Amino acid sequence: MMAGRVKFGIVGLDVMLAGGLLDRSICTIIGAYGTGKTTFALQFAYEGLQQGERVIYISLKEREEILQATMAQKGWKTEDFGDRFSLLRLDPTDFNLAISSIKSELPALIRSTGATRVIIDPISLFEGIFVDESVRRREMFRLTEVMRDENCTLLLTSEGGSVNRDGSTHGLVECLSDTVILLRYVRSPGFTEVHLTIEVAKMRRSAHSREIKPFDILQDEIVVYSEASLF
Ligand SMILES: Nc1ncnc2c1ncn2[C@@H]1O[C@H](COP(=O)(O)OP(=O)(O)OP(=O)(O)O)[C@@H](O)[C@H]1O
Ligand SMILES: [Mg+2]
Repeated sequence: MMAGRVKFGIVGLDVMLAGGLLDRSICTIIGAYGTGKTTFALQFAYEGLQQGERVIYISLKEREEILQATMAQKGWKTEDFGDRFSLLRLDPTDFNLAISSIKSELPALIRSTGATRVIIDPISLFEGIFVDESVRRREMFRLTEVMRDENCTLLLTSEGGSVNRDGSTHGLVECLSDTVILLRYVRSPGFTEVHLTIEVAKMRRSAHSREIKPFDILQDEIVVYSEASLF
């Protein structure tokens, strides 16, 4: 595996990413409700913390105490990481707060904490603040541009699009990201079971797997079955 890759700490996924995300790149995980976006994002945060990094997790959906409880349930002792872990919840219905926090205060926070992993979960709620399509495009472009000046790898999550099921809600973030990971529900033949699958749809400047792999969310880890084949 290549050195200098930013790992999820999920063996099968890191293999699909040829070792992990590129340092200082922007990755988006796209999936419908319940496909595991938050679970992957938390795992990405935890892996960074275990590597001694500083991590900022901005939650636009779930409350801080719920995410803390989720991590505790996995047996992760987040208190051990002290101020290396900043978990912030922003209210996406508070237009001014969400915009000023993400646009203006986030770069300052990244610099003051020295965070090398930043997560926004889900970015689709931030995008949804902008009613005007052209304003949304401009604001998202600005956000990703600003983040590219920071010394960190950015992980975004997005709800899936209702029209294009390979795309995000607003069809925008996947174009601005370096890496796109798709999570999906797949019904078994006979419709007796639902499987979750993962694929790397895009990865700029890197080779990557084009296979669709099944995965499971277990109590304390995500397992990507890299040897298994769905078809
Ligand atoms: N401790 C656990 N053990 C087993 N499965 C779990 C556990 N925690 C979560 N899951 C599975 O993960 C799913 C939810 O994952 P997660 O919250 O990461 O999804 P999400 O894509 O972020 O959803 P949303 O769009 O609603 O935010 C649950 O529906 C459940 O199937
Ligand atoms: Mg979620």
